[in-house]
Amino acid sequence: MAMMSMIAVVAMAENRVIGDGRGLIWHIPNDLKRVKMLTMSCPLIMGRKTWASIGRPLPGRASIVMTRNKLWIADGAIAVPNLEAAIEAAQSWIENTAGSRPDIILFGGGEIYSQGLEYCHRVERTVIAKKLDGGADAAYFPELPQADWDIEIEAEVEATNDVPAYRYESAVRREPPRQF
Ligand SMILES: NC(=O)c1ccc[n+]([C@@H]2O[C@H](COP(=O)([O-])OP(=O)(O)OC[C@H]3O[C@@H](n4cnc5c(N)ncnc54)[C@H](OP(=O)(O)O)[C@@H]3O)[C@@H](O)[C@H]2O)c1
Repeated sequence: MAMMSMIAVVAMAENRVIGDGRGLIWHIPNDLKRVKMLTMSCPLIMGRKTWASIGRPLPGRASIVMTRNKLWIADGAIAVPNLEAAIEAAQSWIENTAGSRPDIILFGGGEIYSQGLEYCHRVERTVIAKKLDGGADAAYFPELPQADWDIEIEAEVEATNDVPAYRYESAVRREPPRQF
């Protein structure tokens, strides 16, 4: 079994807004394809609000859903009470699933990114090249300080009538992350 690592996958605006608390505030089909490619055959760790915004398990992946509500259940979701339990569930899904990849995906939203980022050695980030207002319940991705992260721009995509300009960035931690 290869070493497991944790990777955050996120799309955010220039001011780090990732959504309005209920869903995304943009629609970028190519980014959704990229998320699918980056996450396929991996366990996803997400918050209960992000699960609600998607509304179903994503095929070919485990949906590990963090909630403090001990009674919460949903078809196709693995409910867990905290981040440690989420990581354990992700590890055991990788070990017990044929064809799985050894990448645990930190899938959001804002609460889950801020708690899990210290375990991530890499962030795959789509940055929408403008500031967006997420409203009163806006969720945010944490800042990645230059001192701690080596950030490379992988591709830049120009705006069209339907979609604002955005870029793909890959950020790698300069020092190893917290071990799990
Ligand atoms: N752009 C992107 O890449 C991206 C990705 C994902 C999500 N999003 C957006 O982010 C927004 C949602 O983010 P959010 O921060 O509001 O919510 P969230 O992180 O998705 O979920 C928060 C919920 O997770 C549970 N939780 C958090 N910490 C926990 C812990 N330590 N132990 C157990 N459960 C815990 C709690 O559920 P209970 O209340 O049930 O206890 C909490 O209410 C939406 O707008 C969504 O569309 C964007």
